[in-house]
Amino acid sequence: MISFQSVGFVFQNGTRGLHDVTLEIGEGITAIIGANGAGKTTLVRHMNGLLVPKLGNVFVNGQNTRDATVAQLSRMVGILFQNSERQLFSNTVEEEISYGLKNFGLRDDQIGAKVDEVLSFFDLSDYRGKSPLTLSGGEKKMLCLAVVLAWEPDFLVLDEPTIGQDSINKERIEALVRRLASKRKGIIIISHDVEFLWNLQPRVIAMSNGSILADGKASHIFSKRRIIQKTRIVRPQLLELSTILETVSNPFSSQDQAVNYLKDLMNKSPLKTSA
Ligand SMILES: Nc1ncnc2c1ncn2[C@@H]1O[C@H](COP(=O)(O)OP(=O)(O)OP(=O)(O)O)[C@@H](O)[C@H]1O
Ligand SMILES: [Mg+2]
Repeated sequence: MISFQSVGFVFQNGTRGLHDVTLEIGEGITAIIGANGAGKTTLVRHMNGLLVPKLGNVFVNGQNTRDATVAQLSRMVGILFQNSERQLFSNTVEEEISYGLKNFGLRDDQIGAKVDEVLSFFDLSDYRGKSPLTLSGGEKKMLCLAVVLAWEPDFLVLDEPTIGQDSINKERIEALVRRLASKRKGIIIISHDVEFLWNLQPRVIAMSNGSILADGKASHIFSKRRIIQKTRIVRPQLLELSTILETVSNPFSSQDQAVNYLKDLMNKSPLKTSA
């Protein structure tokens, strides 16, 4: 469990980062939405101790982040940052993944098995001996994700994971998120990509000006005009379609659902029987 208790944070230049944030995040998928500058990245930087609250406390699995190192907290909370590519530093892709595992004290055979597993999952096996810096932007991001996942943290935070990713990698991220959720991990996704989020039907936390604006089911949060305006998002298309077809009390959560509904509707149509 990650627990924020009345957390306030102000940057050195006086900019307010967070204001009176209280929330608990456990297993399953949680999305964080909000306009640029709303405080989303600042919030998640408190989850592995990169930032420590000015007011209040953050606990990760019962551990106060004030009393733990970033390394200790990172073992529990793995974060894929918005510009994580900049953090790549090893000579080879393989070393990049094994570095963290060595630091966490895994045996060589365990490290070897883990490296094989994540490279194959992210389709990066061919790059094993290459320099991370020679990878494309999207591949670098996948590598950063592979690095974080290799140590199997309880919580995985993805800060804008779909930006710049092609459709295969987007599907890969979606499959990964679902798989981790089924393993009872906590996955926290910051994203402006509402279509990607809608597919996952997560709990949604909406932020504005460093505060929590709303917290609830995706269908509820994405239906509120005020939240849509404040977070500057466009409503998911399937929710929009559900509104038009007046099925909004039980909105379509997948394209297949919508297609089946429309096919049924066409079969029932009087035009069809008379034709
Ligand atoms: N290092 C910093 N020093 C001073 N102010 C900062 C710093 N980092 C962020 N801020 C400010 O804190 C506020 C929240 O920033 P944050 O990066 O958390 O926003 P965000 O919700 O992640 O936005 P985006 O969608 O653009 O990534 C903004 O007003 C930003 O200008
Ligand atoms: Mg951000």
